[in-house]
Amino acid sequence: MHPPTLLHFFETQQHGVDHSQHLLSVIGDIAQACKLVAREVSHGALLGNMGNVGHENIQGEQQKTLDVISNDIFIKMAEDNPYIAGIASEEMEHTLEFSAKAGGFLLVFDPLDGSSNVNLNLSVGSIFSVLPGPDSEGPLTEQDFLQLGTQQVCAGYALYGTSTMLVLTTGQGVNGFTLDPDSGEFMLTHPAMRIAPEAQEFAINMSNQRFWQPPVQRYIDECLAGTQGARGKDFNMRWVASMVAEVHRLLIRGGVFLYPLDSRTKGKGGRLRLLYEASPMGWLIEQAGGLATTGHKRLLEIEPTALHQRVPVILGAQEEVELLLSYHSLKDPTA
Ligand code: AHG
Ligand code: MN
Ligand code: MN
Repeated sequence: MHPPTLLHFFETQQHGVDHSQHLLSVIGDIAQACKLVAREVSHGALLGNMGNVGHENIQGEQQKTLDVISNDIFIKMAEDNPYIAGIASEEMEHTLEFSAKAGGFLLVFDPLDGSSNVNLNLSVGSIFSVLPGPDSEGPLTEQDFLQLGTQQVCAGYALYGTSTMLVLTTGQGVNGFTLDPDSGEFMLTHPAMRIAPEAQEFAINMSNQRFWQPPVQRYIDECLAGTQGARGKDFNMRWVASMVAEVHRLLIRGGVFLYPLDSRTKGKGGRLRLLYEASPMGWLIEQAGGLATTGHKRLLEIEPTALHQRVPVILGAQEEVELLLSYHSLKDPTA
């Protein structure tokens, strides 16, 4: 028997959950957009799209041609979908409103995550978060997008790896679908994804070590000390430089991921962006049984104050994140 397709799964398999036709339409169109991005990415150097566009985006980062192409794919999809009232993107300074669709959902996305991997033929992805539209009539404002992560109605990512996968939640656990290149359908291959509470693998950019704060210094020191240290067990380490790939690894084989506050990014609030990186990934991780925090506060409960706001991110295996939380709460975290 074939596994269910993405839409068949949401229409029939999640018993007792009311997925409105409007939300299903949005999910279906996000999946379509991800397929188109996967196609663009898979052309590699063939279409001459591997370089930078020659200017920076609002984040002060060099925009890659594929960042722009992926962003355009998401914009067109959202414009055409009857139930998306407005969008915000990593690649756009301001939100876009589709006024004819007032009352629809808001879609926030990182169209191409880990885009520095593109030229290396390594994994990249897309991250998305669907939020309820405002109750009030009238034009959308940026404020309408500044919602708590707990308000999300759907969140997920597409991973453009050795296979293309769509992994998402609507609040009833996390399910993963693999794109069948023959039929062009996303098929359920990873039902009910869970993160084991304990872990022996961490992911952090070690080159930032000297800039970290004491709680993270202590945690990583103890992981590195392995069987000879306080943890009494050896840890493995990974760093893919694409949050999508890192979170996917957590969902497949566990572990913990950190992009913590450090002395260089402190002024900006952190490295990763709240609305289209931390918040959707935080919800996925929680839905898989893990935890997602800044070190002091649950990611999903951070009140956003700006569209491109950055936050420290610590997420993954429950026991590891709890240990990190306990170090952050100490007056002397090196104790
Ligand atoms: P983006 O390509 O959308 O700007 O995001 C990249 C992010 C994230 O995916 C990854 O975890 C991190 O940046 C990598 O940071 P380093 O440059 O420190 O490796
Ligand atoms: Mn990103
Ligand atoms: Mn990006």
